[in-house]
Amino acid sequence: MDFKLVAEDKGSKARAGVVTTAHGEILTPIFMPVGTAGTVKAVHQRELHDDVKAQIILGNTYHLYLRPGLDIIEAAGGLHKFNGWEKPILTDSGGYQVYSLSGTRKIKEEGVTFKSHIDGSKHVFTPENVMDIQRTIGADIIMAFDECTPYPCEYGYARESMEMTHRWLKRCCDRFDETEGKYGYDQTLFPIVQGSTFKDLRIKSAETIASFGREGNAIGGLSVGEPHEMMYEQTEVVCDILPHDKPRYLMGVGTPENILECIALGVDMFDCVMPTRNARNGMLFTSEGIINIRNEKWKDDFSPIDPNLGGYVDTFYSKAYLRHLVISKEILAAQIASIHNLSFYLWLVKEAREQIQKGTFVDWKNKMVKKVTTRL
Ligand code: GUN
Repeated sequence: MDFKLVAEDKGSKARAGVVTTAHGEILTPIFMPVGTAGTVKAVHQRELHDDVKAQIILGNTYHLYLRPGLDIIEAAGGLHKFNGWEKPILTDSGGYQVYSLSGTRKIKEEGVTFKSHIDGSKHVFTPENVMDIQRTIGADIIMAFDECTPYPCEYGYARESMEMTHRWLKRCCDRFDETEGKYGYDQTLFPIVQGSTFKDLRIKSAETIASFGREGNAIGGLSVGEPHEMMYEQTEVVCDILPHDKPRYLMGVGTPENILECIALGVDMFDCVMPTRNARNGMLFTSEGIINIRNEKWKDDFSPIDPNLGGYVDTFYSKAYLRHLVISKEILAAQIASIHNLSFYLWLVKEAREQIQKGTFVDWKNKMVKKVTTRL
């Protein structure tokens, strides 16, 4: 993997760059649609490519390992071959998903024991087997095995958990470096900064993670219920320490406003279930503001969903028609709304990149934050 910075904003810490992977280039800042089980829910690969203009998608170790299972993915020749997505893929390590299983998992130094949400069967994730699993899935960027602490979190727990995540990182790196990709192309490993909302822990974690010298770095343990200001503070502290010449990935973030603010702090990569999950509930993010498409007020609004984006679903379908589909619980509602929300997120980061390159990012960002937080 390679990363080149192509522009840096003078009024903020925003950057524009290019990540090069074995499956192509990613122009940053970038938003990565979440495809937990090897599919971005309700969106075809062709639509992801042609309409949404996704450059990289996410998969999840936890879900893919449980179903369809590694034997099937390996027999297919890896996840790219299995799901037909030929561009870059990143897999999360399972650290976050297992943490969400709260009642049915045990965290120890060796690893995490958990019960499958599908059939209750017992499994163990360790830093070593999570590297092996992600080698088999074949993602271009794979994530270290970590513990994502909840919010709020006691200082003592946050410190011990962070220290264990650092020890796990050493085990991840050792395993990753002594193994090879199974399908003839390079993969890279991103470590994850933890430390909850404690500045001293975040500093320690960012310094430790930076010292591993990997090709990119991630920030975890945020957007777990803490106030947005707190998330921005921690993100800034960490970005200022992580290497300038490597991509920085803020995990699980967030709203359009969060993404714009964190681009300004020096983050290059984002992912979040929000655009797809909220789409399925009728919440649309647009360039003019937030729409609850179930609302009566849209029932005879025949204007396009969002004419500023220029894509197919945004100019072809009206708000009134999409509202009708949502109210009628039609499958097409989820498809159109998901394609729209993802197209908007990808449009937003592309605009941000252009503004960074033009030197007009901060003014644009401030105006855009007002728009994207308006409830229409
Ligand atoms: N997704 C969102 N936050 C996190 C985190 O802290 N760790 C991992 N592995 N994934 C995440």
